[in-house]
Amino acid sequence: MAATAAASNHRVALPILCLLIALSGILLTRAELPRFAHPSKDDGSLSLLVLGDWGRNGDYNQSEVAFQMGIIGEKLEVDFVISTGDNFYDRGLKGTEDPEFEESFSKIYTAPSLQKEWYSVLGNHDYRGDVEAQLSPILKKMDNRWICLRSFIVDTEIVEFFFVDTTPFVDKYFNDPEDEIYDWKAILPRRKYLSNLLKEFDSALKDSNAKWKIVVGHHTLKSAGSHGDTQELHHQLLPILEENKVDFYLNGHDHCLQHISSTNSPLQYFTSGGGSKAWRGDINWMDPKELKFYYDGQGFMSLQINPSQANFTFFDIFGNILHQWSSTKPLLHSTI
Ligand SMILES: *[C@@H]1O[C@H](CO)[C@@H](O)[C@H](O)[C@H]1NC(C)=O
Ligand SMILES: *[C@@H]1O[C@H](CO)[C@@H](O)[C@H](O)[C@H]1NC(C)=O
Repeated sequence: MAATAAASNHRVALPILCLLIALSGILLTRAELPRFAHPSKDDGSLSLLVLGDWGRNGDYNQSEVAFQMGIIGEKLEVDFVISTGDNFYDRGLKGTEDPEFEESFSKIYTAPSLQKEWYSVLGNHDYRGDVEAQLSPILKKMDNRWICLRSFIVDTEIVEFFFVDTTPFVDKYFNDPEDEIYDWKAILPRRKYLSNLLKEFDSALKDSNAKWKIVVGHHTLKSAGSHGDTQELHHQLLPILEENKVDFYLNGHDHCLQHISSTNSPLQYFTSGGGSKAWRGDINWMDPKELKFYYDGQGFMSLQINPSQANFTFFDIFGNILHQWSSTKPLLHSTI
């Protein structure tokens, strides 16, 4: 009896094994970015807050920013929050048990209006900790708002958000890391990681039928702040954004709030990196044709968007409006 059972197990196991190998081959050659569907409101609009560079146990005005986000979040009835990375200072999370997750996130953003999904990318400081821990579903069990992946898509139908893992693009973290140790476990070999990511990203943008395309990353593409432009992204990512008619690029990294326009394309750049430590004081003022707004202190940004209009607003820690900017798209008549 036992021998027959073992033999029949074999007969079943072999085809299953072959099938698994074939499937994994398909998955490897046709990798796709993880995708989340997030419906917009019944009236076809969406509102959200954008915050970056924040987790410092409430210090450096992090708690004051959080408090105002709660008030504005309620006023705008935000659907979710976007984090542009550098979520936990100074070196990401030490593990899934690291109390910083609660001290810098759960116990800080406590307002009822902020109990929504937090779609988050990683920043360079997050890569100095245990990256797998920050990406782990265990954190979502502790605080079910937390959604952090390296690269992914949030599809709200009117807008598609493309989150891109920008840290592995930056040469100096590899060539000249100073005394920092980065967690590159899933990134190596680096060339292959980057070329796959760019390919997936390009094809996801090409497949998108969304009215608006918004890309979110940690690092700057353009910035008048202390880090300035990120050359690697300029060379490798920007051509893909321009070719695929991306509307907006949202980032953190420079600890400021800023809005930069392109002179040669409709693409607009928004930095929301004012979640905690700010006031660096080293601004490279650019041509006002490009630099529409720069604030060196703490705050955050809101976006209210529907199929025909996108409204961006920057707020300081008192809830004052610092800058507003609006973009419209013609409502094309449906051909159906
Ligand atoms: C907190 O914000 C206030 C008002 O913008 C500012 O004067 C103060 O310097 C900030 N504190 C820190 C530590 O950045
Ligand atoms: C954008 O702002 C304008 C002016 O305040 C307002 O009329 C419009 O409804 C807003 N659009 C959205 C999508 O919130």
